[in-house]
Amino acid sequence: MSSTKYYIFLFNFLLITSTTLSKSNFQPKTLFLLVKKDPSTLQYITQIHQRTPLVPLKLALNLGGESLWVDCQNGHKSSTYKPARCESAQCDLAWSTSCGNCYENDTFLPICNSCYNVVSNPVTSTIGEIADDVLTIQSINGSIPGPAAIVPNFIFSCPPTTSNLTQNLGKNVKGMVGFGQQSPVSFATQFASIFKFSRQFAICLSSSTKRNGVIFIGHSPYFISLAFDASRDLIYTPIITQQRFVTITYPHYISVIRPSPEYYIQVNSVRINGKTLPLNKTLLSLDENEEGGTRISTNVPYTELEPSIYDIVSKAFINEMPKEVTKVPSVQPFKTCFDSTYIGVSRLGYDAPEINIVFQKQSVYWTIIGSNSLVKVKEGVICLAFVERKEARGQAIVVGGYQMQDNLIEFDLSRRRIGFSNSLFYRQTMCANHNYA
Ligand SMILES: *[C@@H]1O[C@H](CO)[C@@H](O)[C@H](O)[C@H]1NC(C)=O
Ligand SMILES: *[C@@H]1O[C@H](CO)[C@@H](O)[C@H](O)[C@H]1NC(C)=O
Ligand SMILES: *[C@@H]1O[C@H](CO)[C@@H](O)[C@H](O)[C@H]1NC(C)=O
Ligand SMILES: *[C@@H]1O[C@H](CO)[C@@H](O)[C@H](O)[C@H]1NC(C)=O
Repeated sequence: MSSTKYYIFLFNFLLITSTTLSKSNFQPKTLFLLVKKDPSTLQYITQIHQRTPLVPLKLALNLGGESLWVDCQNGHKSSTYKPARCESAQCDLAWSTSCGNCYENDTFLPICNSCYNVVSNPVTSTIGEIADDVLTIQSINGSIPGPAAIVPNFIFSCPPTTSNLTQNLGKNVKGMVGFGQQSPVSFATQFASIFKFSRQFAICLSSSTKRNGVIFIGHSPYFISLAFDASRDLIYTPIITQQRFVTITYPHYISVIRPSPEYYIQVNSVRINGKTLPLNKTLLSLDENEEGGTRISTNVPYTELEPSIYDIVSKAFINEMPKEVTKVPSVQPFKTCFDSTYIGVSRLGYDAPEINIVFQKQSVYWTIIGSNSLVKVKEGVICLAFVERKEARGQAIVVGGYQMQDNLIEFDLSRRRIGFSNSLFYRQTMCANHNYA
């Protein structure tokens, strides 16, 4: 990180006043994170700098996470770490669910009371102490990196008792960056409040485990390559917000209704080579228990489909493959695999039937091409890069990382919509072609 220009932003959520930013002559419009797929866990990993003195922290991306959380065990040290006191405004902002002892330097301090909220990883959840500390992130100036921005009081959560929460995230990964909708302290929303820019961000995940993709936070343009603004010509669909019951243990043991931070959208149908699949419409709609419907998640590496939907998609896909392409035994976790000898490859990836994910109208759809629908699993074998949902319940469709790679996907929270670019391969570029490294 460039050390020359650090602009200090004095910001305090408890004092959101016009004087808050007056010490700064620099107000970034757009920030960015670099993000790279971990080859062993297939999680998307980014890095921020936090604490005093600043340390780099590797964190996994969690689109539907309420906030940033960082594992505070194992030698956590920071002279600027401040737990949020129970009943403070920070506790409210961070959707506190309970109160408990404060945590500092690997010890619990019964002398003070701090508030806790829910933190989760792809498989489980627990609670973490709500706190704030210094955090830095780089800004964008046009299509090149700008100066680093320093936020003195960035709110995050510290799960102190469960180091296991970082399991399955990747080597040396210390937490997750939650980009969830609705939560006032989710990663992009907190920056939007601090720097007074619009609540939006966009992810551009690279298919490579060697080259970084990029996450833009704040205003577009979102330049991929020097002159190509990937935020133009997006296909938009509304974000659905579902309410959920959350149990709170402080100040009273009660159940409250809060918006789910997850990104749900309505997929009305799926077409393969232009043919609409006979999918169960009930399954495609999200119900009041957050069952069914479609969710977008970077926690799952490959799009998960409810078993009856997987069957229909797989059969239709096989039907539309060229006749000379033969099926071969499945390779875990995939069920539908092919001998790749007779599969053509172009600049759009494998020559595969085109999949359209159809949104609110027949004419509004996201297209998945061969580079996102087929995956090479070993020499001579490629598989349909979709998997069957293992859990009995859940979404009918969970759009996963592989299908989003080399597409720009914009999450426009102020206008309550998600935009899909379609594969950047159509534009002769890809997510790793940015100039922000
Ligand atoms: C925690 O560590 C910091 C830095 O080492 C030190 O200044 C601070 O007093 C410690 N806090 C407690 C409660 O021991
Ligand atoms: C942005 O880039 C321009 C041109 O390179 C430069 O003049 C300007 O100072 C930069 N702004 C910041 C905030 O670094
Ligand atoms: C953490 O993981 C270890 C190893 O997988 C396991 O033995 C232990 O029980 C786990 N602890 C908790 C609190 O889940
Ligand atoms: C569609 O799915 C719903 C929910 O699982 C189920 O109750 C219903 O029987 C299904 N309809 C058909 C025609 O299979």
